[in-house]
Amino acid sequence: MIPNNNQTLDSQRKDDHVNLALEQQAAMKHSAFDDVRFVHHSFSDLSMQQVDLSTEWAGHSFNLPFYINGMTGGSAYTKQFNQKLAEVARETGLAMASGSVSAALKDPSVSDSFTIIREVNPNGFVMANLGAHHNLENAKRAVDLLKADALQIHLNVPQEVVMPEGDRDYRSWPDNIADIVSDLGVPVILKEVGFGMSRETMEQLVRLGVQTIDVSGRGGTNFVKIENDRRDRLDFSDLNGWGQTTPESLLESLSVQRTLDVLASGGIRHYTDIIKALAFGAKATGLSGKFLASVHEKGVADTVQTVRDWESAIRHMMLMLGCSNLAELRRTNIVISGELRSWAEARQID
Ligand code: FNR
Repeated sequence: MIPNNNQTLDSQRKDDHVNLALEQQAAMKHSAFDDVRFVHHSFSDLSMQQVDLSTEWAGHSFNLPFYINGMTGGSAYTKQFNQKLAEVARETGLAMASGSVSAALKDPSVSDSFTIIREVNPNGFVMANLGAHHNLENAKRAVDLLKADALQIHLNVPQEVVMPEGDRDYRSWPDNIADIVSDLGVPVILKEVGFGMSRETMEQLVRLGVQTIDVSGRGGTNFVKIENDRRDRLDFSDLNGWGQTTPESLLESLSVQRTLDVLASGGIRHYTDIIKALAFGAKATGLSGKFLASVHEKGVADTVQTVRDWESAIRHMMLMLGCSNLAELRRTNIVISGELRSWAEARQID
């Protein structure tokens, strides 16, 4: 796409991402979470007052087990989204991540599209976000800029491959991650961007010292498709289905959940997907595209109401399942079917 008169290629890309992600939300229907069902039992020995949704990850406690995941910043247009999302975070207490702060490290004139998050929500839990090619010094600059409580580092090889201007040399990533995790001074969350994670990746992250991951699987916002849609040459549309879905990635994570705090994002549509991800052992679930579309189409007040409705719905489902907290929810009975079951069998996951 051709940049508007006053825009750099970088800020045009950020605007395209938002607009194409919004289009994808409108088209989203089937999800791998539909292959996950709870077994209904006829007794629940709980009262609503006993249901506790609190959770802990990255060394912090949170009242709600979901958050606004990393998306945007880097242009005047995306600043408006960060402002609205930060208002939702402030009103609901949800944690919130920015999009990659790389743009502001390169071009300080767009810093305000990120710092707005902290201005609007001075006391909330805010995460900065950067790619794994950045070193410790840049990670410190990103955290300082947002006065962030934590840093998300994203792993996005398929997206880079599909972008003609994308990175083609990933050799520095492991050392950068190890340095940042060891010396940044705030918790670090390693996340995918919608392609999911394998058990092997998670084990490698453990060896690098990582303590918190977000598996961010396939099923929601699709960055191969977004990058394909931004150009008409070098089309990688065969890769539109690349990667593990979020439930597949959560199955992959079962063997590392004692060592790592596992967060889940990618294609979370509503409160039933949230509770299913929590039942698979996620400490919390992140939503990007869904919150983006919600603030865009319904505005801040309605999005705040949706968060409150979801909290209430999750509490009621916990009551129905007889689970007073997330640890009990992890022990509830689940049945998986379809492609998810085939994945579990092929990867020998019980
Ligand atoms: C993203 N995502 C993302 N992730 C990241 O770590 N850094 C980033 O800068 C961005 N940018 C970005 C822009 C937009 C517009 C969207 C919608 C998403 C990816 C995001 O955090 C998440 O991993 C995926 O979007 C999958 O979750 P959803 O959208 O299916 O809930």
